[in-house]
This record gives sequence, structure tokens and C-alpha cells, in this order.
Amino acid sequence: MWGGRFAEGPAAVMREINASIPFDKRMWRQDVAGSRAHAAMLGAQGIVSAGDAAAIDAGLAQVAERYAAEGVPDDLAMEDIHMLSEARLGEVIGGAAGRLHTARSRNDQVATDFRLWVRDATDQVVEALDRLDDTLLARAEEHAASVMPGFTHLQSAQPVTLGHHLMAYHEMVRRDRSRFTDNRARANLCPLGAAALAGTGFAIDRDATARGLGFDAPTRNSLDSVSDRDFALDYLMAASQCALHLSRLAEEFVLWASQPFAFVALSDQWSTGSSIMPQKRNPDAAELVRGHSGRITGCLVSLMVTMKGLPLAYSKDMQDDKPPVFEAHDLLALSLAAMTGMVESATFRTERMRQVAESGFATATDLADWLVREADVPFREAHHITGRAVARAEALGCTLDRVPLPELQAIDARITDAVYDVLSVDASVASRRSFGGTAPDNVRAAIAAARAERAGE
Ligand code: ARG
Repeated sequence: MWGGRFAEGPAAVMREINASIPFDKRMWRQDVAGSRAHAAMLGAQGIVSAGDAAAIDAGLAQVAERYAAEGVPDDLAMEDIHMLSEARLGEVIGGAAGRLHTARSRNDQVATDFRLWVRDATDQVVEALDRLDDTLLARAEEHAASVMPGFTHLQSAQPVTLGHHLMAYHEMVRRDRSRFTDNRARANLCPLGAAALAGTGFAIDRDATARGLGFDAPTRNSLDSVSDRDFALDYLMAASQCALHLSRLAEEFVLWASQPFAFVALSDQWSTGSSIMPQKRNPDAAELVRGHSGRITGCLVSLMVTMKGLPLAYSKDMQDDKPPVFEAHDLLALSLAAMTGMVESATFRTERMRQVAESGFATATDLADWLVREADVPFREAHHITGRAVARAEALGCTLDRVPLPELQAIDARITDAVYDVLSVDASVASRRSFGGTAPDNVRAAIAAARAERAGE
């Protein structure tokens, strides 16, 4: 492509270190689409003849057909997908192919291709998030009133419902979705026409190419256009945060599937066995989702560090922008699909959850609250009285709601028979009706509101 200036070809290692085609061939669809929009604009502006523009367009369609049929070869001599596509176009239409690169550089070309690719990837992630969300809502509805222990410090804290717990992940999924859609809106500007870095002297129409490629407008500053990778970093940031949420859910599945918890039985489809221990059912998929989240965050850090020291405008370091984004996207897509499958097919052992919720004195706060409400005891004092009641229950080897009334009254005479109404785990969760609280009715209302919001999208 630049033979005019050079007497010798590149060293073999130079060729190897320089080539991006082994990975950027993934953008062949975007590359062809970008070139077709550019050629159409060149034709419409009279920068190339209408005949050449039509030949280029038809030729690019053939190039795309061949990519689709045969795949894209790792042709290191061609360096990247942009040069391969132009060379292939030359094979199809001959000399007119040489006019395609008028008023364009690979710098604005790659920035455009990559934005298009990240935009498509974002749309795929949003769809996958919606599928996970559907699953969470369905399982939450099924378990709106299933009692489980709520934890702080991984110690039994207060009873909650499984539906409420799953709806916490719904909230995370919704925030993730909004991060991706916000990114999409911010990134949907077209760098094509910034050329190498300074713009061009040709009378191009950047609005036309932007429109043709589904962008909202052209980017405003040519230097920024070719050196900005914020859209890729934003994607990686949203992906990392999303993967972090999946990792927390995965971690809970790993814990819950363990024998001491036994809160969940993973389906056969989402478990693996051991080659030596016949009794094993391992939650490998959940562990890998947890593991992948580390790798995805690594991809974010990788591109941040690549970008942070680069002067304007384009430097070849920026070719390293694609592998971390592709890797993160593949890992995230797999993780989302795996988590959706696991949540969908898991059997929640609600009787076991209830038993554990009842065993950890998890309604102690309800006793303290009762003393505040019914006997006008200051909360600090109620806390102390309840602490003594818990100690008594522990000594008697029973749950709080089984401590005989005389025992409770020996601790504080203001306690009456009515206290037992609040000491069951069902009464405890049912009472938590404050907005955002765990009461089954709240959970059902939250699910209905979530579905209404989804329907409006
Ligand atoms: N393969 C390059 C990349 O991925 C395309 C841009 C090359 N531009 C240049 N001036 N060498 O970034």
C-alpha cells in the first residue's frame, strides 16, 4: 500500500507485530458497511464518478459475500481487515478500487468500524440482560413469599424472602442495562471523514455517511475522532460492572449449592461431576462466571493503561484496543447466558431456607421493635432486653418464638403473650412493608412495576 516510499519489504517479525488481521477480521461486516457508506457519499458529492461509486458498491457486496462464505484469512501481508478488503475489492473491480480511499484514512476508518462493532455488541448485551431479567422476575414471582435468612457479615440477620433477594439482582441488571444504553447513546457519533487527523480538503458530506451508518451525527473534532476510544472503555466499564454483579450472584450460587447451606440444587445441565469423587455435583459454571468477571475487569484495565499515555492523535498502540474488547464481550455473553440458565433451572430448597431462617434468632429485631412499639421502651434498652432473651433461648436450645412467656417476663415484665405474633419468620417478613422492604406484597408490587417498565421500553 505504501510501496512508493520503500525499497524493501518488512522483516518477518515486523510483519507479525504489525498485523491486526488475526483479530480485527471480526469487524469485516462493519468494515464493508463503512466503506459502502463512504463510497456512496463520494459518488453523491461527485468526488468519484457515479459509475466508479456504483462499481465500488457492487464490488464490496461481493467482497462481503466471499467473507461470509469462506471466512477471512489471517493474511499477515495484508496487515488488517481494511487493507484486505481494499485488496479484495481490487481483485473484483480492478482500478476503480483505488478511488475508495479518497478523503479517508485507516485512522477514521478503524475508529468507525470499531464504534459500529461496539454498538452491535452493546445491543446484544442489552438483549441478554433482558433475558436474564425475565428469568429473575419469573423466579422472584414464584418465591415472593418464600422465607430465607437474610445475612449481614454472612451471619443470619433478619428473615427476608427469596423473591426479594432475587429482585435485588433485578435492580443490578437494570442499572447495567442503563449503563449500556447510556453508552450507546453517547457513542453513536460517526468519526468517518476525520481522515488521518486533520480532516480533508475534499468536499465530503459527513452528515450523509453518519446517517447512512445509523449514527446520530458526525463527531465534532477530527483529532478527537481518531484518538478517542472512550466508547470502548465505556463498554468495558459497563461490562466489568455487569460481570461483577454476575460474579456476586455466582458466588451466592456456589455457597448455596454447598452442603452446609443446601439452599439450592443446580440442575444436571448446569453441574459437573468429579472424575474421582462419585458423589460430587460441582457448580463449575457459577465458578467460571465468578472467574470470568476477573478477566473482564482485566480487559478494562488493559485498555485504560494502553490509552493513558498516548499523545494525540493516532498511535499504533491503539491497535491493541480490540483484543480486550472482543475478549470481554465473549466472556460477558457466555456469563450472561450461563447465569440465565442456572437461575432458570435451579431448584430452590425453600424448606431448608426456612429452617435456617428460623434457627438463627433472626427475629430478634422484631422482638426489640415490639418492645419499642407496644411498651414504649427506648430502642437501646429494647436491644439489651432482646439480647438477654436470645441468650436465654440459646441456653434453652430453642428458637425465640419457643421461649416460654414466664422466661421472657423474667427478663422484662412488660413482655406479654402478644409478642409471639411478631416472632415467627412469616410475621417478620410480612411486617416489613416500608417502601423497598421484603414483605411479600412489596415483592409482588415491585415485580409488577418492573414488568410495566419493561413493557414501556
Ligand atoms: N490496524 C490499525 C488499527 O487497528 C488500523 C489503523 C492503522 N493506521 C495507521 N496509521 N497505521 O488501529
